[in-house]
Amino acid sequence: MNKQERRDKLTRKRSESLLGGGEKRIESQHGKGKLTARERLAYFLDKNSFEEVGAFVKHRSTDFGLDKQHYLGDGVVTGYGTVNGRLVFVFSQDFTVFGGSLSETHAEKICKIMDLAMKNGAPLIGLNDSGGARIQEGVVSLGGYADIFYRNTRASGVIPQISAIMGPCAGGAVYSPAITDFIMMVEDTSYMFVTGPNVVKTVTNEEVTSEELGGASVHSTKSGVAHFTAANEVALMDNIKKLLSYIPQNCEERAPISDYVLTDESRPVLSDIVPENPNQPYDMREVIHGLIDADSFFEVHKDFAENIVVGFARMGGRSIGIVANQPAFLAGVLDVKSSQKAGRFVRFCDAYNIPLLVLEDVPGFLPGTDQEWNAIITNGAKLLYAFSEATVPRVTVITRKAYGGAYDVMNSKHIGADMNFAWPSAEIAVMGAKGAAEIIFRREIASSDDPVQALTEKEQEYAGIFANPYRAAERGFVDEVIMPEETRIKLIKAFKMLENKVDTLPKKKHGNIPL
Ligand code: HXC
Repeated sequence: MNKQERRDKLTRKRSESLLGGGEKRIESQHGKGKLTARERLAYFLDKNSFEEVGAFVKHRSTDFGLDKQHYLGDGVVTGYGTVNGRLVFVFSQDFTVFGGSLSETHAEKICKIMDLAMKNGAPLIGLNDSGGARIQEGVVSLGGYADIFYRNTRASGVIPQISAIMGPCAGGAVYSPAITDFIMMVEDTSYMFVTGPNVVKTVTNEEVTSEELGGASVHSTKSGVAHFTAANEVALMDNIKKLLSYIPQNCEERAPISDYVLTDESRPVLSDIVPENPNQPYDMREVIHGLIDADSFFEVHKDFAENIVVGFARMGGRSIGIVANQPAFLAGVLDVKSSQKAGRFVRFCDAYNIPLLVLEDVPGFLPGTDQEWNAIITNGAKLLYAFSEATVPRVTVITRKAYGGAYDVMNSKHIGADMNFAWPSAEIAVMGAKGAAEIIFRREIASSDDPVQALTEKEQEYAGIFANPYRAAERGFVDEVIMPEETRIKLIKAFKMLENKVDTLPKKKHGNIPL
């Protein structure tokens, strides 16, 4: 074969590969309003930056007539490219080739680019659209998944891994994303379940649709499996690009810094957010928006465990992670789900050198059998552990309540926070004044001529001592009591001061976070 013939053959193979599963694929994917595997990559990556790896790979199966069905690439497009000029490794599954199912060779292709991503310290982005292990291949496809899970786990904390769910994903196709850092789902066209509706019906006799079982709304509100949802695939890919802009390429690097010139950083709007009445809710997002660089908040897990708000933002051009109690939802109480949500976010930020800002207004842990039976002890401990273990710069601002164990948990000085600020409206105590008075003055109140009046007086006495930040400041548990309007500049200076913080954990193999 001469040079020209070789070139022609390569061109022919490339165009076949571009078509992948052929006309059927394009029709069916467009029929559901879905992009093809290659269209997704074309949109996601910088123009002309994609370099494909393994375009000519075919499966090696012969059972069940598979020896007569071969598609170049075997149902997954793999390679590397750039997003806003930064290197990323990608795989994009093609549902129209055996349902995007994972064969031995499909797995080998993904593993190859995972290994490259690790060696070159760049994020791995998976565009998942797969029915799981290729059923016709049996154990070799299971082995292929295990090879991926193993690499996902080894890469965890070394390079960021982001999973986009672009269609129905089942079995192994959900466990690999589950090990990665973030999962994003497309509304109405993507599903995630370990076993689909048919198996559910057979085993439990439950009639359930794919959407009810594992749609984007279920996983973003009930299970918390999905960190982000988007109305369509393009919006989802925009979200991945945005997420990447806040995070470094790997655990050895720092996040990119945007230009920012300090001007007047006072923010008078912050003075009017916390209501006079300590029992009146307010939206902590207003505080967040008042503190950070304009329009820089990128919320994670927005619709899950809404009593805590977490997300990325910029402060003076630098990336930070925010963990904030949300008084507008369940009074901002800590419970099982909010502890899981915040704990996981803290660990991501710590793994990737992103400083943490905690905004605290928390009345305590949620009481009750539901919480105790669902292990609030173990789950609350996750958040406590995550903060205690974090070595990144950590700053807390107490805006109002810091009660009980939640005071300790929410990045208190005692568990390693670097700077702790409080607004004059802060109340730092074992519990609210009424509850405290009822317990410690029970006998006096009961024996008084006017128990109602006695309770009010005792409540006021307790509040007088603790419904302020000064007791904590006397001890140095709070470094400074600051006015809301000057908080932004205080934070910019604090994070700048902490920029080169060095803190190390005791030598160990790894800790044992209460899972
Ligand atoms: C081979 C598969 C496949 C699979 C789908 N297809 N899943 N082929 N292996 N795992 C094929 C179908 O046969 C069909 O081929 C085409 O893909 C489209 O599938 P449909 O069922 O028509 O699509 P849809 O109705 O959208 O349903 C999608 C689905 C469903 C929910 C994903 O296909 C499904 O339930 N698939 C099986 C899921 C599963 O049990 N996977 C194995 C899990 S075990 P034709 O030729 O008809 O177009 C696993 C182990 C990992 O993954 C270990 C985990 C710890």
